Amino acid sequence: MILAIETSCDETCAAVCTPDGEVLSSVVASQVTDHAAFGGVVPEIASRRHLELLSPTVITALREAGIDEDQLTNVAVTGGPGLIGALLVGVSFAKGYAYARGLPLIAVDHLHGHVASLQLAENPPSGAHLVLLASGGHTLLIDVADDGSLTTIARSMDDAAGEAFDKGARLLGLGYPGGPALGGLAGTADPRTRAFTTPLHGRDDLAFSFSGLKTALALSVQSLAADDQFGRSELAASYQEAIVTHLVERAELGLARTGRTTLGVVGGVAANARLRDRLGELWADVVLAPLSACGDNAAMIAMASRRLSPLTPNELTSLDAHARSPLG
Ligand code: KG4
Ligand code: ZN
Repeated sequence: MILAIETSCDETCAAVCTPDGEVLSSVVASQVTDHAAFGGVVPEIASRRHLELLSPTVITALREAGIDEDQLTNVAVTGGPGLIGALLVGVSFAKGYAYARGLPLIAVDHLHGHVASLQLAENPPSGAHLVLLASGGHTLLIDVADDGSLTTIARSMDDAAGEAFDKGARLLGLGYPGGPALGGLAGTADPRTRAFTTPLHGRDDLAFSFSGLKTALALSVQSLAADDQFGRSELAASYQEAIVTHLVERAELGLARTGRTTLGVVGGVAANARLRDRLGELWADVVLAPLSACGDNAAMIAMASRRLSPLTPNELTSLDAHARSPLG
């Protein structure tokens, strides 16, 4: 049995999975209410809350899995990328836990974890495929080869897609986290009324860009009457549509370039209903991460760990958290 721990941002997560990939428990202790008042994640608060929440979250995960600690065979932990103080809480806990119980420790890249969340889908991709990873920190196209090796083929030149949702939500006076709130405001408003230009539309380069869109929204919000609720909904719908169209267009280009016929879609933004809908336009088999595994969770870290070797005793003692990933 694998005990997995994830503390890279503002969710304290622990999960227990079998070696063949059955999830016995996946507990996410969200800190959203701790950060909402500040309009975004406050790194110092995140670290302190992880310290308070991690032990009880692990205990709950073990209890919900119905297993005893003696049945654990491995510990897996997110080593990065993410907020360094937040990561350090999980890494230190996992090191201590593995050392004290004599268990092998596996360090997992958070982005690799998101890619592995596809293994939690009803019909996971079996061979080589392309992955669109859209989260609060990254927007990437990752090629997954037959042997499971990962190569990033496109990244964002500026903001990430989730960041674009969060910043857009703030401009529209919505709370944190912005993605679900902006999608809610967009509702059924017509995205064409105030259409924003799709970033990099018609260009042949594999890259993402969201910062121009955010500036366009800021200008549009300024010219809106304070009580124009309908106008705000239309702006939200147009802004969301431009982000989604950009993601779908780049995914299409990535599929054409790589020749892959299966597209996996993962990360917090993969929960967006409009994106899930529009992905149906693609000539590809689209595999969506389950809604419960789009946002950060430890089950995906356990899944990714199954393909990795444990750290040697020397590596275990020197394991450190890292803010950046070779995939990002
Ligand atoms: O993957 P994730 O939980 O954390 C990171 O690794 O960053 O992604 C969080 C991001 C946030 O920016 C959040 O606003 C966005 O995912 N998000 C959404 C939705 N749910 C979460 N964006 C659009 N629509 C949603 N329904
Ligand atoms: Zn994430």
